Amino acid sequence: MESILLVGGKGTRLRPLTINTPKPMLPVAGVPFTEHQIALAREAGITRIALGTSYRAEVFSDYFGDGQQFGVELDYRVEDEPLGTGGAIRNAADALTCGPDDPVVVFNGDVLTGLDIGALVGAWREADADVAIYLTRVEDPRAFGLVPTVGDRVTAFLEKPQTPEEIVTDQINAGCYIFRRSVIDQIPADRPVSVERETFPGLLEAGRTVVGWVDPGYWLDLGTPLAFARGSADIVLGKVHSPALPGEPGESLIATGAQVDGTVAGGTSVGCDAVVGAGSEVSGSVIFDGAQIGRDCVIEDSIVGAGATIGDGCSLHSAVIADGARIGTGNELLEGVRVWPDVTLQDCAVRFSSDQ
Ligand code: GTP
Repeated sequence: MESILLVGGKGTRLRPLTINTPKPMLPVAGVPFTEHQIALAREAGITRIALGTSYRAEVFSDYFGDGQQFGVELDYRVEDEPLGTGGAIRNAADALTCGPDDPVVVFNGDVLTGLDIGALVGAWREADADVAIYLTRVEDPRAFGLVPTVGDRVTAFLEKPQTPEEIVTDQINAGCYIFRRSVIDQIPADRPVSVERETFPGLLEAGRTVVGWVDPGYWLDLGTPLAFARGSADIVLGKVHSPALPGEPGESLIATGAQVDGTVAGGTSVGCDAVVGAGSEVSGSVIFDGAQIGRDCVIEDSIVGAGATIGDGCSLHSAVIADGARIGTGNELLEGVRVWPDVTLQDCAVRFSSDQ
């Protein structure tokens, strides 16, 4: 089976982490997120993957090459200007070799899921569908486009609901599709197209068969910092399976050369040559390569970028510290604070240290 992976987005919600690194190449549970997706695809029997890239395309090819090392054949299609989800699928399909009636598995490059890909392909085959869409149910659907179904047939693609009456279902598009190859070839080439706003509604209008497959398993869109840290921790903890996790699931993942004198738990991953000082407690967080965390810090659900420095006695809760930033001693950075690359925050007057 062949697949297209959409990895060309700008990842604006994850700025400033995505200034230098495209979102799918940020480290999640020890490896770039795309590596988890490739490993899962391979496990499901996918042998060839076309990466639809645009923003910082070279970062992907430099790391993955022809894919041999990762057990799949990889090819790249680069958009000079982002073509949107539909345009990117059309553009990347040039790299596929399958016939017009074969299934093509398409993934958004930021969705972490325990989806049974084989079952989704089975649903597509059974319905002889043009497209099968992976759906997930969410408690609060207000932030998502809704996808109602009757039986297995999708009946509409609705924009984010504005009023309670508009919440007609809790089913949302979960970012993985099976396309009949010939349907991809009918998407207009060389102009931006959105599958959600143009391609799928167009198929419904034309009376084509679009089926929805609700999978009750794990699903998370890693688009925001909090979700990104959560997803990484869930892979480390084994709440969602990834064949690319280095080692066995556990409370933490500590890379080669890291020095941890404090406590790391709750699925925290600590990158190569990073340091966690004595008395510090880190949970549910992602510490990138070479980051230095001082003594007696409390770090929860946060992301600390490559080479960033956190002084002694700091508290970070749901914070994002970009690469190379320097946080002086005793700072408290709470709920959603983002510090940009190479910014320095002064020491705070009050310093908490076990030495005092
Ligand atoms: P935000 O800017 O934070 O919304 O993130 P994003 O740019 O990744 O957009 P979004 O989360 O909506 O994209 C969903 C998936 O489609 C991601 O995996 C993106 O990489 C991918 N994607 C979005 N737009 C394009 C595009 O124009 N070209 C390609 N190749 N991929 C895209």
